[in-house]
Amino acid sequence: MTEQHDVVDVIRTKRDNGRLSDDQIDWVIDAYTRGVVADEQMAALAMAIFINGMEREEIVRWTNAMIASGERMDFSGLSKPTSDKHSTGGVGDKITLPLAPLVASYGVAVPQLSGRGLGHTGGTLDKLEAIPGWQADLDNAGILRILEDVGAVICAAGAGLAPADKKLYALRDITATVECIPLIASSIMSKKIAEGTGSLVLDVKVGSGAFMKQFDQAKALAQTMVQLGTDAGVHTVALLTDMSTPLGKTAGNALEVRESVEVLAGGGPSDVVELTIALAVEMLAGAGKTGIDPAENLRNGKAMDVWKAMIAAQGGDPDAPLPEAPHTETIEAEADGVVADLDALAVGVAAWRLGAGRGRKEDPVQATAGVEVHVVQGQPVRKGQKLLTLHTETPERFARARAALEGKVGVAPPGTAVKARPSIVLDRVEA
Ligand code: URA
Repeated sequence: MTEQHDVVDVIRTKRDNGRLSDDQIDWVIDAYTRGVVADEQMAALAMAIFINGMEREEIVRWTNAMIASGERMDFSGLSKPTSDKHSTGGVGDKITLPLAPLVASYGVAVPQLSGRGLGHTGGTLDKLEAIPGWQADLDNAGILRILEDVGAVICAAGAGLAPADKKLYALRDITATVECIPLIASSIMSKKIAEGTGSLVLDVKVGSGAFMKQFDQAKALAQTMVQLGTDAGVHTVALLTDMSTPLGKTAGNALEVRESVEVLAGGGPSDVVELTIALAVEMLAGAGKTGIDPAENLRNGKAMDVWKAMIAAQGGDPDAPLPEAPHTETIEAEADGVVADLDALAVGVAAWRLGAGRGRKEDPVQATAGVEVHVVQGQPVRKGQKLLTLHTETPERFARARAALEGKVGVAPPGTAVKARPSIVLDRVEA
């Protein structure tokens, strides 16, 4: 087939800070998906976009072209409204686990088509695979059936959804072109719009453990995504939330499932509970259900009932004991003082090095590896008090995990003024 464009011209346009035409965008995404545009050419274009950016109209067109590269799900046949949440990824971010059943317990269907973790941020599917028997893969009929019967489904996004993004995201990951607002916004929103949810809440993380380290960058990303969703007819709002220290008390697959179950049982760390409730209020409102206090269904066990049904529907045993690591080491305070540093990125990298995450897509993860955090920033501690417990199946990993934490988790002399974590929700963005 004769190609409409020459890819070198497309790269040159963006290299020289020009605007890509609609036609160029449609073609280059389609040709890349078909394998006509090579990885090295797309890598050059991604780097040119990284450096020179894209105008709003280019981002919209790029997103639509990625949606058009694959299938679109259709939930219009369900008897209930749909609402979904997407997080830009953080350390200890297990919120999907309690949130999906909580929202479903109010009669809203939650289709969570998720991915696996890469790098220091954990993947939702890796966490759930720590539950004995649980299976991530479902076909479209299975997804619809569980949404109708149970209300919430967390499963692997099928290969048919935005395949252009699957290829491009893997390429960006190995060419230092991930942290770019037009590329992140179009990547996330193409998948979410193709997924077909009626409303969407974005949890945009800010801080050391997030892609966006600065508030202003994160806000610009949130505004771009909210606009893309709104233009596509999806009711979209974003919360900007703190990721300077880990979320909750655990980072690692089985450890995070355990903490999520605590939240579903009406307990759990206050920051995890606060964020779960804040996101649930937004998801319910997006589906037309206002005036609800979601804390109620955490207290009365209704969210827990949906969790158990959701896990069982995918072959998991929600009552089976979770696996535990055969090897642990603790890190203790070397002197009396106050916890001054508890850096999210360092804890995420330590959990990853212990075996909770993967370096390459095809690597396995350890279900039991991770970090347990025993303190919060600003807390007074005594010499010898436990700060962290490291968990792994392979004890030779301890040294590299400790190295990641060096100088990043620390105790300052008693009386040092340390800012406690502010409220977890920093801002809200809507169209
Ligand atoms: N998550 C995505 O799906 N895409 C990105 O580009 C970044 C985070």
